Amino acid sequence: MQKHTVHVRLGARSHPIVIGKSLLPKALTSSSTFSGLKTRVFVIADSHLRPIAQRIIRSFGTKCAGSFFLSGGEATKDMSTLPKLYAAACQARLDRKSFIVAIGGGVIGDVTGFFAATYLRGIRIVHVPTTLVAQVDSAIGGKTGVNLPKGKNLVGAFHQPALVMVDSTTLKTLPDRQFRSGLAEVIKYGIIDDSILFRRLESRTKQILNRDPKELSWIIQRCCEIKARVVSQDEFETKGLRAILNFGHTIGHGIENAAQYKLLHGEAIALGMVGATYLSQKLGDLTSIAAQRINNLIGSFGLPVRLKIKLPTSKIVAAMRLDKKAGDGQIRFVLADDIGNVRTGIPVSEVFISEALATLC
Ligand SMILES: NC(=O)c1ccc[n+]([C@@H]2O[C@H](COP(=O)([O-])OP(=O)(O)OC[C@H]3O[C@@H](n4cnc5c(N)ncnc54)[C@H](O)[C@@H]3O)[C@@H](O)[C@H]2O)c1
Ligand SMILES: [Zn+2]
Repeated sequence: MQKHTVHVRLGARSHPIVIGKSLLPKALTSSSTFSGLKTRVFVIADSHLRPIAQRIIRSFGTKCAGSFFLSGGEATKDMSTLPKLYAAACQARLDRKSFIVAIGGGVIGDVTGFFAATYLRGIRIVHVPTTLVAQVDSAIGGKTGVNLPKGKNLVGAFHQPALVMVDSTTLKTLPDRQFRSGLAEVIKYGIIDDSILFRRLESRTKQILNRDPKELSWIIQRCCEIKARVVSQDEFETKGLRAILNFGHTIGHGIENAAQYKLLHGEAIALGMVGATYLSQKLGDLTSIAAQRINNLIGSFGLPVRLKIKLPTSKIVAAMRLDKKAGDGQIRFVLADDIGNVRTGIPVSEVFISEALATLC
């Protein structure tokens, strides 16, 4: 069982991210995180992951104080899920020494994370992310939350996990569209920080799309290292560095909102990256060769490079203005100077934004 550990360095909130293939259940349940004699764990899992969750529960043996299954999908990331979790936690008599183990994608991680942040003013949580989005992004960084009818992630808290365990083998059952959507975030990491990762994505496209667990472990590790470093330096998003993670997200969020979530997040981000790449060439130092490589890679992973649904530009720009990142009225971008190197906070005029959106139609 080969595994790698990435450390998220946050003083008292430091924790490891363990990455490998076929790690579950053994590496999780025998982890020193749970070594206390009186440790009790409570498993909250996506019902799509029932078989592996049940193996984990069995492997915890008498340490497991109970379990609760939730459906994946955005509808679960809702206030109405919380009372159910609080009730189950009370019934299982969880106390401040107990651990929550969250098994699932970003939805389960976010809602369970918020529950763990608030139950008894905060109990410890371990994330076992099972979508590519969760493995490279949402399980790292401590952002938790639920949606309100007015918008996504409007209620939440920062709550760092005690451990993140990523088993790339869990991705085998993930629907193709969800898997490709996660690849958009992986490409993003290459563009913002890592030209070696980017080149590997270009040269191993076939193995990646075939979900070779060894190849995926390597890629996930690189992404986790980048996010862990960014989060270690800017945990609460106050220093500006965490903003590099938003490459492709300015236009991406606008499209996601304007399309009323008909596109998956990664699909909208793929389009947002094509738009940001255009602007990086127009307003910054990105060469046309580098821009072509970015657009080709997005396309070769089966992600959209053109909007296939009808969406008026004005609607996308209006949604971008509403996005919380446009606080001072200016729409700001993360732009790439090269593959592996970006600048943040660049204000872009509406004329150029419209041009960028026109390239997507
Ligand atoms: N906290 C953060 O920093 C952060 C970062 C990025 C995204 N997010 C959030 O993450 C959410 C999206 O996460 P997601 O894309 O993982 O969605 P998700 O959790 O809804 O999972 C997508 C679908 O895949 C299913 N699924 C999960 N794992 C599976 C597996 N191994 N095999 C088969 N099916 C599986 C789920 O049941 C669901 O139907 C959004 O709410 C987004 O806001 C949070
Ligand atoms: Zn994203």
